[in-house]
Amino acid sequence: MRLTRRAAVAAVGVAALLTATACGADDGGGGSGAKTVEVFTWWADGGEKAGLDGLVSQFTTDCAGQTFQNGAVAGGAGANAKTVLASRLQQNLPPDTFQAHAGAELSDYILAGQVEDLSADYDTWGLKTAFPKGLIDNLTVEGKIYSVPANIHRANVVWTNKKVLANAGITKAPTDLAGFFADLDKVKAKGIAAPLAVGKDWTQLMLFESVLISDLGPDKFTGLWNGGTDWNDAGVTKAINDFKQLLTYTNTDRDALDWTDAEKLVMDGKAGYQLMGDWEAADLDAKKFADYDYFTFPGNGDTFQWLADSFVLPKGAKNVDGTKCWLKTVGSAAGQKAFNTKKGSIPARTDAAPADYPKYQQAAMADWKSFKQVPSCAHGSACSQGWQGAANSALGAFSTKQDVAGLQKALAAAAQQFVKK
Ligand code: GAL
Repeated sequence: MRLTRRAAVAAVGVAALLTATACGADDGGGGSGAKTVEVFTWWADGGEKAGLDGLVSQFTTDCAGQTFQNGAVAGGAGANAKTVLASRLQQNLPPDTFQAHAGAELSDYILAGQVEDLSADYDTWGLKTAFPKGLIDNLTVEGKIYSVPANIHRANVVWTNKKVLANAGITKAPTDLAGFFADLDKVKAKGIAAPLAVGKDWTQLMLFESVLISDLGPDKFTGLWNGGTDWNDAGVTKAINDFKQLLTYTNTDRDALDWTDAEKLVMDGKAGYQLMGDWEAADLDAKKFADYDYFTFPGNGDTFQWLADSFVLPKGAKNVDGTKCWLKTVGSAAGQKAFNTKKGSIPARTDAAPADYPKYQQAAMADWKSFKQVPSCAHGSACSQGWQGAANSALGAFSTKQDVAGLQKALAAAAQQFVKK
């Protein structure tokens, strides 16, 4: 019932947005001489919008005669944007460029023939050596490169309200799950009913992925996504049980909240902790909330769970020249600095100067180099969109029913269906 209603709302949203786009968009080629580049993202607010604004100002400087057109569709992790985008691509009404995660999510668009090969532009713009090889591999299918990465984000970070923790006598970050449960109990004992703020499906998937990293270790965790680790493993059962216990510390309205709503619970002192990607650093700064701290999810050790936003040239984009100028800006040193200093992420380019970045990003840049890297399913580096959808639904059902065996079975079935053999 709930899913049906959600699907209906999404469909209405898509129709409304398509109408708005059809009425509002310039033709890009522009008989009037105006050339617009419609940039499709889900960065509509707060730190995400601040990052996009930074990139736009660099684009305006670099791409004279081109005008940015904001095609953002609000909703964390692209929950709404991806539905709208799929519909537009299907109707051959692509934006000039759209945001896609490096890795399996991008491969979906490549394999569906929806995006253009940018290999020659990589040569022209000197990008082949600007990014780490591992990242380029994640953007490449059969030797061709299909998108330009804007950043590297980190997913497995816990954000805290310092005052709430101080009030509970907590002075150190926990380093394992047992320590985290003990601290959650301390905050609860101070009258905070739900010390760990969480939102709907994909935010729960993020939390669960962090628990999986703790209980399986980084290598076995990565194996879950490439067929190397069996989802029926006893370590997965343990992780589901730990996750179930964690949910007892969370807000009961979780399934109705986006990540920013959960973040607000932390800012308002109604919760002490939230597991979220490091776009939260930028968002808390944009919202002028200074009383926060952060630590790696307990038990993850020196693991950096990464994801990367990248931009593509869709097949059938109207303003190819303008879009190429956008992509060139995205990949440039100046563009990456303008974007990432505001977005909470670190530059994908390897030639950035840490001193140009806020304190959080300086630490993340160092960790990116020395920590063990694992991908994220909630943000497309580990799993395809179909797999991600199946995982989100399984987590959504678990939030209501708390059926441990049921969740493991659903996740094992999803892996069976989607893992590349
Ligand atoms: C991720 C995206 C980030 C951030 C986040 C929350 O999928 O890669 O840049 O926007 O969603 O919306």
